[in-house]
Amino acid sequence: MTIADKDKTGAPAAPLHVAIVMDGNGRWAKRRGLPRHLGHPKGVEAIRRVVEAAPDYGVRWLTLYAFSTENWRRPAGEVAEVMRLLKLYVNSDLDKLVREGVKVRILGRREGLPPDIAEIVARAEAKTAHNDRFFLQVAFNYGGRADLVDAARALAAEVKAGRLSPEEIDDQALERRLSTGGLPAPDLVIRTSGEQRLSNFLLWESAYSEFVFLDVLWPDFTPTHLGEAIAEFHKRERRYGGAVADDVLAAG
Ligand code: FPP
Repeated sequence: MTIADKDKTGAPAAPLHVAIVMDGNGRWAKRRGLPRHLGHPKGVEAIRRVVEAAPDYGVRWLTLYAFSTENWRRPAGEVAEVMRLLKLYVNSDLDKLVREGVKVRILGRREGLPPDIAEIVARAEAKTAHNDRFFLQVAFNYGGRADLVDAARALAAEVKAGRLSPEEIDDQALERRLSTGGLPAPDLVIRTSGEQRLSNFLLWESAYSEFVFLDVLWPDFTPTHLGEAIAEFHKRERRYGGAVADDVLAAG
């Protein structure tokens, strides 16, 4: 893959952490005259393709938004289908993920998950805990606001218990208590289906991410689309709130 070329220092070119809002399963099904929920199994096929291909593009962390805290409002049948597919995916692919050195981490609230899903999530994490070749995060029962609320609660509890003083609360202290604690921030956030919004995904973590919106429905997403998004990423100039050297000189 040419896209994973080295940069000038010889280090692998970014983006190392890619996060994806996998949107458009319902529309994919509707366009074919199928019930909406039948788009989700096709979405899982796209997940398999991208997990397989991402390391070839220099990606080391991949975070997928699979089910939000707001998605419980969807029809019960559709919610059940997404739960069924997560279970099926873990049952069918876990051994391969273990063999390929993939460490799986589920982001989001564990409370509220049906017991069989909580069990499968714990199993996927436990069996891959020692892997370190590639990191796959699946945001499931995840909401950026809920995650920030939980982190705030954890900090408050520690202050109340006398283990932490309010002055010690800084960016790092909060960040460590998010469900993404310890992960690098996403370099690139991709959203498929043409919608251009974040929908409560990685609100804190994406503060300086680059965003690429692709006009492809998630079930049609292929490694080529990942390559396109990464190529677009490489055209961007990241400033992290600062100015680039030339701008500073021009401004005198
Ligand atoms: C967005 O499409 C997709 C989802 C809300 C669900 C994504 C979940 C999966 C692909 C299955 C989860 C399984 C694993 C293995 C993580 P949409 O239904 O919002 O599409 P629409 O915008 O066209 O309605």
